[in-house]
Amino acid sequence: MNKQHQEVDSRRTFAIISHPDAGKTTITEQLLLFGGAIRQAGTVKAKKTGNFAKSDWMEIEKQRGISVTSSVMQFDYDDKRVNILDTPGHEDFSEDTYRTLMAVDSAVMVIDSAKGIEAQTKKLFQVCRMRGIPIFTFINKLDRDGREPLELLSELEEVLGIESYPMNWPIGMGKGLEGLYDVYNKRVELYRPAHYNSERFIPLNAEGDIPSDHPLQQNSVFPQALEDVELLVEAGNEFSKEKIAAGELTPVFFGSALTNFGVQTFLETFLQFAPKPSDHKTEEDQEISPYEEEFSGFIFKIQANMNPAHRDRIAFVRICSGTFERGMDVTLERTGKKFKLTNSTQFMADTRENVQEAVAGDIIGLYDTGNYQIGDTLYGGKLKVSYEKLPQFTPELFMKITAKNVMKQKSFHKGIQQLVQEGAIQLYKTYLTEEYIIGAVGQLQFEVFQHRMLNEYNTELIMTPMGSKIARWINPEDLDERMSSSRNILARDRFDQPLFLFENQFAMRWFADKYPDVELKSLL
Ligand code: G4P
Repeated sequence: MNKQHQEVDSRRTFAIISHPDAGKTTITEQLLLFGGAIRQAGTVKAKKTGNFAKSDWMEIEKQRGISVTSSVMQFDYDDKRVNILDTPGHEDFSEDTYRTLMAVDSAVMVIDSAKGIEAQTKKLFQVCRMRGIPIFTFINKLDRDGREPLELLSELEEVLGIESYPMNWPIGMGKGLEGLYDVYNKRVELYRPAHYNSERFIPLNAEGDIPSDHPLQQNSVFPQALEDVELLVEAGNEFSKEKIAAGELTPVFFGSALTNFGVQTFLETFLQFAPKPSDHKTEEDQEISPYEEEFSGFIFKIQANMNPAHRDRIAFVRICSGTFERGMDVTLERTGKKFKLTNSTQFMADTRENVQEAVAGDIIGLYDTGNYQIGDTLYGGKLKVSYEKLPQFTPELFMKITAKNVMKQKSFHKGIQQLVQEGAIQLYKTYLTEEYIIGAVGQLQFEVFQHRMLNEYNTELIMTPMGSKIARWINPEDLDERMSSSRNILARDRFDQPLFLFENQFAMRWFADKYPDVELKSLL
């Protein structure tokens, strides 16, 4: 096996998806500690919190650290090189969050044991599902009283429609948490070994039990856990590597990130099943192998305004094949233009390092002065590939926009055009009146857009919130302008496709009943 082959095989690139507050930051931090990428708990957390002036995106960037330094985190564990891609939550939630999932090979879904599956988890899960990548589940906060583990598993199946397999099972919960019955590693992991005067790990015997004289046997939560596990073995899903690989079955782990319980077991078991980089599809339906010698990759995210004085941005490239080397020549597929990649950088949790060499699965950041767009393919040598277009996501929030100063129409249009192309925001025009409406999946997208229009295009905007709407596209041949009513807005997207923005579910159902032959379509 050559060096490139070995390097590719060691890569594990994934994202952690969750609803805010489920514990994603806490887990990420534990993983980075295990990997030696940070030395102190609190490093990632410190970046996440802090008050900020909402109007100033640069400040948001600086203080909350939704900066590139935490967008990609890399560390080595055992013989693996792990890349964790951040998927911001809260108000930071944006199309970028979805697009990041296009650049990973698997996802870890973190669920709060007291809350179960929440809205944001569900949306992010659906994007992972659409890609068919393996999804691993970590049910967190076992140190607090939560819902019944069996109930949580059924929720996974019912709400998300994915089969589950418990890799381990809680022994007690909240104040009564005693440990994990580790089905996969055939051992019990104690939460408080000192309390039992025991080792942390107790191997299971042939009957799947621990020695009869172990003091844990005296605690009623242990037989209860055994009973649950027996039930699951008999009536639950079978473990299947193939189904995990196809994203049809999610291995479920329990733990408590805050008390660092079960996280290392999760990491080690996860790394055995998480996939290495695989082939990537091109527009022409070709599959490019990660072992292919020539370099190629695609841009999935552009982070702007790192330095307002230079208007510079960072384009994030997911490498799909070849080896990236500093100073190498690449071609930007969209324009055919050649570049020398000298100014590139790769990011760690708390240090910014210039990358020397990277392979498929790795993420590199390229300094960009406006050359790149989201979805662009870069290739080296004669490979000449164009990777599949990134999907567009149905926006949920809308604003009407106009330029405050009518004299600034030219820069207004130029700014909108460029930012829309870059994927920062989606643009629509009302059908007859041609008013501009922008759409986003998260509020921060609007703020970033407004800030960038002012700073990069010198255009102050008047933005009128329209709140949340349900966007549905229709076939152009079905369009009849009389379908527009007070409960919907008829508009066209930037590809001239007609769509309705419905006020709410009720308005959409009313429309569907009235025009049963008109197909209403959503993006992802
Ligand atoms: P997020 O990135 O998914 O938004 O979640 P984050 O890790 O920030 O965790 C959200 C809150 O949940 C934090 O508390 C954190 O300490 C707590 N938490 C995370 N994992 C566990 C766990 O396993 N058990 C318990 N009991 N709590 C957990 P906070 O009060 O919001 O923040 P802080 O003031 O403690 O930092």
